[in-house]
Amino acid sequence: MPDIIDLGAYGRGFTTDPYPYYAKLRAQGPVHHVRIPSGQELWLVVGHDAVRAALTDPRLNKDWLSAGLQSEAGDETALFTNMLDADPPHHTRLRKLVAKEFTSRRVEALRPRVQQITDELLDAMLAAPDGRADLVEALAFPLPMTVICELIGVPSMDREAFRAWSNELVAPTGQEAVREATVAMSDYLVGLIEAKRKAPGDGLLSALIRTSDEDGDQLSREELVGTAFLLLVAGHETTVSLLSNGVRALLEHPAQLAALRADPSLLDNAVEEMLRYDGPVETATWRFTSEPVDIGGTLIPAGESVLVSLASASRDPERFAAADDFDITRDARGHAAFGHGIHFCLGAPLARLEGRIAIRSLLERCPDLALDAEADALTWRTGMLIRGTEQLPVRWHV
Ligand code: HEM
Repeated sequence: MPDIIDLGAYGRGFTTDPYPYYAKLRAQGPVHHVRIPSGQELWLVVGHDAVRAALTDPRLNKDWLSAGLQSEAGDETALFTNMLDADPPHHTRLRKLVAKEFTSRRVEALRPRVQQITDELLDAMLAAPDGRADLVEALAFPLPMTVICELIGVPSMDREAFRAWSNELVAPTGQEAVREATVAMSDYLVGLIEAKRKAPGDGLLSALIRTSDEDGDQLSREELVGTAFLLLVAGHETTVSLLSNGVRALLEHPAQLAALRADPSLLDNAVEEMLRYDGPVETATWRFTSEPVDIGGTLIPAGESVLVSLASASRDPERFAAADDFDITRDARGHAAFGHGIHFCLGAPLARLEGRIAIRSLLERCPDLALDAEADALTWRTGMLIRGTEQLPVRWHV
């Protein structure tokens, strides 16, 4: 058994800038036995090739519920009855049923509404008399939250409460808080689905309640709760960080910002580079071994948890030249921000649509946008799943 590496000993630096630590780990090999800052001991996979191999390795499982790994989930297990917590053939079935309704047509139809919401949020932000705002509060959070609520068909949902539960589940602050958030979220979604059954609308959730495949197969009540949970949480937590990490990268690299302003046709590429350079998801969701698994010459015993570092893959110099440079003209394709393999992000087209519209509109409306805080004054999301700052103070001339 290799020596355990204590990632918590790296302190705050591992959260604010984990990339040099990942570089060191990559230099030592693809698989490490680590203790993560929250205290759990597990196995961490780093580097572009090893990460892609791990994400397509059928011996690394996701379905912890049927493996009986966590008993405290209790009655709220329905939340986790979703494709991201499932292995084939259950995963295949769930993803197929959801993909049938969450189509590129449905996403494309959202385009005018995404633009309208962005414009309204920027109107409100730019009305600030002192020319200052927190970009997370003003745009990066409310845009994806509003979009996913409207997509699912939940216009009047209590967004602040939902945000608090969701934040707790992806960036936990304590066991009791996680339990409370799980119960509250589960009760909320059960009620929502009942309401949609009684009064269907034209949102995605009503479509998922109705949908069936060619054999008449349908999502069960639990699967609907789990799928609504996954879409709502995955649909906004990540996109918040695409916008905030992406804008921070631009504002910290004035030459890149100037290049983008000079040639707006670089926008789509710039968004891909934002995803590569400082993507929202630092490590993919937990996998586990149900048998001993050899990865890159290291034997991970059965019954162990495995974290796959997407951040370390996207910054691997073996795959991307000058990987630590933010360069909006590079070919950033092949980044790991949306994962890889069967769990590749189902919402990537929506995330890209929102990212492109929001960043283009923000730059057009704010020709002199600047950061309004030193980097070390920012507070960061906790945990190793979502990477991003809690706030992004910006200013402009009024
Ligand atoms: C920039 C924004 C986003 C990023 C970086 C992102 C990233 C990811 C990643 C890395 C995974 C795979 C996780 C793993 O393998 O453990 C994933 C899965 C998923 N994402 Fe996203 N996501 C984003 C936005 C969205 C949006 C907007 C939605 C939906 C509205 C969404 C829905 C999903 C779903 C349903 C899965 C599970 C797919 C499966 O298990 O087959 N994501 N996402």
